[in-house]
Amino acid sequence: MKVVTDLEELRAARKQLAEQVGLVPTMGYLHAGHLSLVAAARRDCASVVATIFVNPTQFSPEEDLTSYPRDLSRDLALLEEEGVDVVWTPTPEIMYPPGYQTWVTVEEISLPLEGARRPGHFRGVTTVVAKLFNAVQPQYAYFGQKDAQQAAVIRRMALDLNFPLEVIVCPTVREADGLAMSSRNTYLNPQERQAATVLFRALRAAQTACNKGERHAKKLRLIMRQTIETEPLAKLQYVSCAGVLTLQEIEGEITGEVLLSMAVFFGKTRLIDNIVIN
Ligand code: PAJ
Repeated sequence: MKVVTDLEELRAARKQLAEQVGLVPTMGYLHAGHLSLVAAARRDCASVVATIFVNPTQFSPEEDLTSYPRDLSRDLALLEEEGVDVVWTPTPEIMYPPGYQTWVTVEEISLPLEGARRPGHFRGVTTVVAKLFNAVQPQYAYFGQKDAQQAAVIRRMALDLNFPLEVIVCPTVREADGLAMSSRNTYLNPQERQAATVLFRALRAAQTACNKGERHAKKLRLIMRQTIETEPLAKLQYVSCAGVLTLQEIEGEITGEVLLSMAVFFGKTRLIDNIVIN
């Protein structure tokens, strides 16, 4: 496994790789969710490139950029075990040198849900992912359903900007008790960690109601909200029942595929989760 930092080194390593190349972008502090993307790339592609970069432009000033967990040596050992060919670990100065002023913005589907609560977040994500696509030139790029809106926004960007690659979205990997794996779970104290199981319980409660015939989007949102409210340590930011393609909130009855999603605070830690129901 080659570990490279400079863009020139990355380009040289890329030239040596057998096609097709699969790319797995990450911010590091890897867990089984990230590794499932690597495993999917390993299965589909002759070569796998993973990137580790805590992208400053997708964090707002009040967010957790400086405290974001990092453990490069552990990450590299995990990626080596998964059979990754090249790991690119650029620095902020490499990605955003002095004078940097170019941004990629996806409009409508960046606006609701996470976009409404984290202004500028998706502009940072799409800009860095476009730069990763240009530098690595993969044929396949892997993202997690855990960040459903991110995956939708990146898919839109790849289509709109004619990136010659396929975006593959892999299922959310969960802990045994249903909590979606996330690097941010390490911020939780033991009581909050226990309480955080309420996200998946809320999603499942709405799914169960839907399976039993509940079709009103408003009622499904209420069921999720009420489940979250049973947990004293949980502070709900939003619940949503939205069209899976448009990400627009549904007002009447649901039809077809629907994205149930939410963001919940436990102390200062903000967790998101979602499921798609039919
Ligand atoms: P990060 O949070 O490190 O996640 C990297 C990838 O892993 C994303 O595609 C994310 O959706 C996926 N992922 C995270 N948790 C997962 C889980 N439990 N199951 C399955 N997949 C999971 O998302 C980012 O980094 C950044 O925004 C990035 C795309 C790298 C751009 O900076």
